[in-house]
Amino acid sequence: MSKQRWGSRLGVILAVAGSAVGLGNFLRFPGIAAGNGGGAFMIPYFISFFLLGLPLMWIEWTIGRFGGGFGHSTAPGVFDTMWRKNRFIKYFGVIGIFGPVVIFSYYTYIGSWLLGYSVFAVTGKYAEYTEAAQMAEFLQAYQGLTVNQDFSGLGTAYIFFLITFAINIIVVGFGISRGIERFCKWALPLLLVIALILVVRVLTLGTPDPAQPQNNVINGLGFLWNPEWTALRDPGVWLAAAGQIFFTLSVGFGVILTYASYLRRNDDVALSGLTAAATNEMSEVVLGGSIVIPAAFAFIGAAGVEAVAQQGIFDIGFITMPLVLGQMAFGQLFGFLWFFLLFVAGVTSSISLAQPAIAFLEDEFRLMRREAAVLFAVITFLLCQPVIFFLGHGVLDEMDFWGTTVCLVVFATVEVILFGWVFGIDRAWTELHTGSDIRIPRIYRFIIKYVTPVMLLTIVISWIVTNWNTIFYLEGVEAANKPFVLLTRVALLGLFVFLLLMVRIVWRRRPETTTPEGEL
Ligand code: ALA
Repeated sequence: MSKQRWGSRLGVILAVAGSAVGLGNFLRFPGIAAGNGGGAFMIPYFISFFLLGLPLMWIEWTIGRFGGGFGHSTAPGVFDTMWRKNRFIKYFGVIGIFGPVVIFSYYTYIGSWLLGYSVFAVTGKYAEYTEAAQMAEFLQAYQGLTVNQDFSGLGTAYIFFLITFAINIIVVGFGISRGIERFCKWALPLLLVIALILVVRVLTLGTPDPAQPQNNVINGLGFLWNPEWTALRDPGVWLAAAGQIFFTLSVGFGVILTYASYLRRNDDVALSGLTAAATNEMSEVVLGGSIVIPAAFAFIGAAGVEAVAQQGIFDIGFITMPLVLGQMAFGQLFGFLWFFLLFVAGVTSSISLAQPAIAFLEDEFRLMRREAAVLFAVITFLLCQPVIFFLGHGVLDEMDFWGTTVCLVVFATVEVILFGWVFGIDRAWTELHTGSDIRIPRIYRFIIKYVTPVMLLTIVISWIVTNWNTIFYLEGVEAANKPFVLLTRVALLGLFVFLLLMVRIVWRRRPETTTPEGEL
């Protein structure tokens, strides 16, 4: 089977940027930033970008292209080719398939709410509601947690889920250049244009209520951009910033590695990786930072924004924003643009989450693309069901915890140590610059070898030390939800073990890989 390839350089950059630009940029970023004191958050955020995010972006592009040269598009094979002498490293690569599958299974469902709300915004289904409590009730009824005059069960949500799920599978079913690349080529520019329209609208809001002159857009921007140096001493803010950088750039998932495996040996990765990261950051801090926070600040003030941020990002997205946008002229139109923006951004990300598992089935089990997509659809469709039907019992949070909080950081730590230490920084640096259109400042040799791994190990160890018993004993989980959370955990463990076994079976069956560049 000949290897799939990207059709153009712009295409791969847009696909990687599409993976990065997602709900994280427009919803999670303002939520986390507001919840961590606005300006206090931005310094650790930028430091994390330069010391963790950008190096990992380059590492994933480089090792993905390297592994792709040996016919591997997923982390087990890529890690194996990087460290031939080690029999176990391929099993660590399983995290790079498991994490995306888990995240896909709830991310798609959240994406479907956005499609639903886009339709509700246009049809004015929630237009009569002007209070947060009413919008909260609307959301809960939509999610099937309660019943009201708007929704009598999960039927509507389920239909939007099926449509969203089908869109994802169809796009990935068409493959790399005819599916993912073609979709991202129009979706990414479209979502950037929509975001820009919303930014212009929000920035021209001024002071909506003259009786409350302090509630204005400029103060909203000041809340985010006035640095607060004392926060550098708070480890919680650092953790939140590092977590956001991973999530938003899509590094540590295993997806960029997979995308990069479809490059050719001499395709540039240094400039392309930088461009994708810069596109994401521009859309996060410039566009994402100029919608929710200033808009909410202008309408509900500083205390309101912080209070909402404490409730979580869904409250900002599905309760505060529709209310705020509803107060503007053409509120229905802007409400639609907000939800549709999030929906499109969500799909360009979720398709990237689907690709590692599909690529694994194609490469290692020699399935045809369509067969792999169908098998992936069956497995993730099943995984989505507990998320949908037991949403109120903590299933989604549990999957998010393992998929996002745990897998990303652990996987990134393995990648960076492999790259800088096992593969070796000299060879890694040469590999990164093969075919490259720029030279990366040499300071990054030092950062990749020492700074990034030390930061990651510090995060992992301090996090385990402070959290292990909370996690182990399910502290903070309501007693009634414990069986659901526990079952989710067991199911995830089962999936992980199943993937480990698949890797074992594949490697036992395969003859020793012959390589284009000889044994390592
Ligand atoms: N990087 C994706 C996002 O920001 C997952 O949503």
